[in-house]
Order: sequence, then C-alpha cells, then structure tokens
Amino acid sequence: MELVKSSIKSLIRHQRDPLLFIIKQVNHVLRKLSSLTHKAQLYCQWAVKPNPEWFDHFIDQHYQWTQSKNPLSWERGIFNLLAIGQNATVLEMCCGDGFNAYHFYAIRAAQIISIDFDPQAIKHATKHFKSDKIDYQVRDIRQSLPEGKFSNIIWDAAIEHFTLVEMDNIFNAIMARLTPQGVLSGYTIIAADHGASHDDHEHEFESKEELKAKLVQFFKHVVVFDTKYPDRHNVYFFASQAPLNFLADFQATANGSL
Ligand SMILES: C[S@@+](CC[C@H](N)C(=O)[O-])C[C@H]1O[C@@H](n2cnc3c(N)ncnc32)[C@H](O)[C@@H]1O
Repeated sequence: MELVKSSIKSLIRHQRDPLLFIIKQVNHVLRKLSSLTHKAQLYCQWAVKPNPEWFDHFIDQHYQWTQSKNPLSWERGIFNLLAIGQNATVLEMCCGDGFNAYHFYAIRAAQIISIDFDPQAIKHATKHFKSDKIDYQVRDIRQSLPEGKFSNIIWDAAIEHFTLVEMDNIFNAIMARLTPQGVLSGYTIIAADHGASHDDHEHEFESKEELKAKLVQFFKHVVVFDTKYPDRHNVYFFASQAPLNFLADFQATANGSL
C-alpha cells in the first residue's frame, strides 16, 4: 500500500499538469451527465402528479441548486445546525431522505433518531446516508414519538403536512421529550396566493406572525425569521422553554466579540 501511495505521489509530482487536465475533463463530463440524469429524475417525480411527499436532495446537489441558484435546501440544514450543540441528542421528525441528518446534523450530534412514516424514505435514507450516529425509523408522528429526552428536535419542511389539531398533539409530545434547555427548530413555507404548494399540505401558515402565535402557545421563548426567494417565502423557527442563548452566542461570534 505504501509503495502504491508513493508511486502515485511521484507521478503527481512529475506529471501534475497533464494529470489535472485529464481529471478535470472527466469531472466536467461526469457533472454534465449527472446533472442531466438528475434533471430527468426531477421531471419524472415532480412534473406529473401524484408527487412524492419527500424530496430526494441528490436532485438539489447534482442539478437543481446550480440551475436555480437558490440556496434554500442548504440554508435549512445550516439554520437547524445553529441550534445543535456539541454532543447533542437529536430527534429529527419527518426526516424524508436523510440528507440533512447526514450532511448537517451528524457533525455535532452524538446521536440522532430520524423518523418518517414513509418506508420508502427510510429505505432511501438507510441506503444512502448510513451512519453509526443515525438511527432511521419508520414512525407516524401522529401516533407516537420515540421515548427519551432530546436536546434538539427538528421539524423541517414538514409542519405544514399536519392540521392545526394534529400540530397541537405533536407539540405536546415534543414538550414531553425536550430537555429543559432543549430547542425545537425547523422551517416551513408561507402560503402563496396560488394555493397549497403541495397536495399533502394540510395547513400552510399565512405569515411568520401566525406561526409565532402557534409556537408561543407551547414555548416561552420563540424566534421566527424569514427568507424570501423569487418563487417562495420561507420561515424558520427556534422554540424553547429556556432562553435561546445559542443565538446570542452566534451573534457575538459573528461580531467578533466572543
Ligand atoms: C417535504 S418532506 C420533508 C422531509 C425532510 N425533512 C426534508 O427536509 O427534506 C415532508 C416529510 O414528512 C413526512 N411525513 C408526513 N406526515 C408524516 C407523519 N404523520 N409522520 C411522519 N412523517 C410524516 C413525509 O413522509 C415527508 O418525508
């Protein structure tokens, strides 16, 4: 093995430019091909109804982000990660394809339970995003949540899939599982004039104020904020029974005063 490594290093040392030329050309062709096939997947899954209830973020990674230049998928991962402390215990509700648990949350979390009621989503997550830290489970959150205490519960791109009554029951189950300092975080889409943006959406909030009013029924400390992109209005939330100190720490770090 050492001999192979030193031979490769010697080859690179003497032939770096021609090697890089070939590698970059191959990568260019593979990216074009991958973009094309992921575009085809997008059309097959989303141009004709019924659409799936979860999104395969490989489509974002290989095609849609570059095409749309819209960072929504990644900002969702990053904003949830803000609330996750080192060695956090995370419950991710309605995890879909598992992309975010693997790419964003696992770097800090000690343990993640990611649940979704769609066996196909969990099968996909287990196949593509297997990790010692992540336990993917098929579970309908209207029926039950896993037992235990969690420092973070994430409900991302999914609260809108429930009625207001269902949300209330789920919030009560969340409250019973968050640690005293625990944080619920997530994102939802603000209702557009043209009506529900997905057939499986049960309640799209009209404004960030409406979402905040719902959250303060359960949590003492709530922060909501939005991002607006050409085709959609997004709202993010952090909610806890304790002050959301991580936000102050983050601002202090950003200002260079921590
Ligand atoms: C738009 S996807 C979001 C998935 C993932 N959080 C993401 O950001 O990509 C909504 C997810 O909620 C799941 N879901 C809907 N109702 C559910 C329920 N009652 N229990 C568990 N998961 C549910 C769907 O299967 C779907 O994966």
